[in-house]
Amino acid sequence: MAKIFTVASGKGGVGKSTFCANIALSLEKLNKKVLLIDGDVCLRSLDLLLSVDEMVVYDWLDVLENRCDKDKARLFFSDNIQLLPAPSEYPENMTCELFGSLLSQYRDEYDYIFIDSPAGTGALPLCFAQCADTCLAVATPDEISARAACVLGNQLTAKGIKEENLRLIINRFDEKCVKKGKMLNADDMIDRTYIRLLGIIPEEPDLMCSSVTGKQLFDYSDAKTAFDNIAGRITGKEIPLIL
Ligand SMILES: Nc1ncnc2c1ncn2[C@@H]1O[C@H](COP(=O)(O)OP(=O)(O)OP(=O)(O)O)[C@@H](O)[C@H]1O
Ligand SMILES: [Mg+2]
Repeated sequence: MAKIFTVASGKGGVGKSTFCANIALSLEKLNKKVLLIDGDVCLRSLDLLLSVDEMVVYDWLDVLENRCDKDKARLFFSDNIQLLPAPSEYPENMTCELFGSLLSQYRDEYDYIFIDSPAGTGALPLCFAQCADTCLAVATPDEISARAACVLGNQLTAKGIKEENLRLIINRFDEKCVKKGKMLNADDMIDRTYIRLLGIIPEEPDLMCSSVTGKQLFDYSDAKTAFDNIAGRITGKEIPLIL
């Protein structure tokens, strides 16, 4: 039965969708089967990041509202990575029970399900987080993103999500900037967000390119290693928290 993660952030544009696409690729290398659910209603992006945008016909709201079968809605990026695109209209009266009923239709077929959440602390991100086993808070190493991640963490714990089910991903980390005092380091981020760290992903210009060209990251990039390490930790391997 799939372990369900929601990938959230307080501040927008910090790399949630990039994380979802790349963590799926890393888990696939470990022979894990992954379903990505684009939760960014009206602003879907995972279909573009995975270059399956021309195949989108249905979305998960069509499944929930019985306009299409659960198998018809998912797009096959590969045998082990599938995508449920986001609807282009906001789902009325979304509840944790309703979204949970969608998850339960797919849960048995996958090792992991990742929900790419919209940014912020609105009803939808909170609903996704409540449906998940673990909530990953993505933040870039700056004061604004750190504060937003802290607010997100507080809102999630207020909704009953336990601290042990909340993890921090620091994205776009640049060692040189940290040394020059222009960027927060990992300890600063943990101190400000009060969230336990799961991994650090370095700044990687190729990630930006891959979102434009649809080409995957090169295996030798530091970012790829960072995603592989996080994938390893998710599968229960003991991998030290270094860059
Ligand atoms: N580690 C990284 N290094 C360099 N660029 C990155 C990195 N991670 C993400 N980016 C870039 O940052 C931009 C925003 O990324 P992305 O769309 O994944 O963020 P998001 O959190 O999903 O945004 P939104 O809140 O709008 O959904 C993209 O151009 C992406 O290529
Ligand atoms: Mg996104």
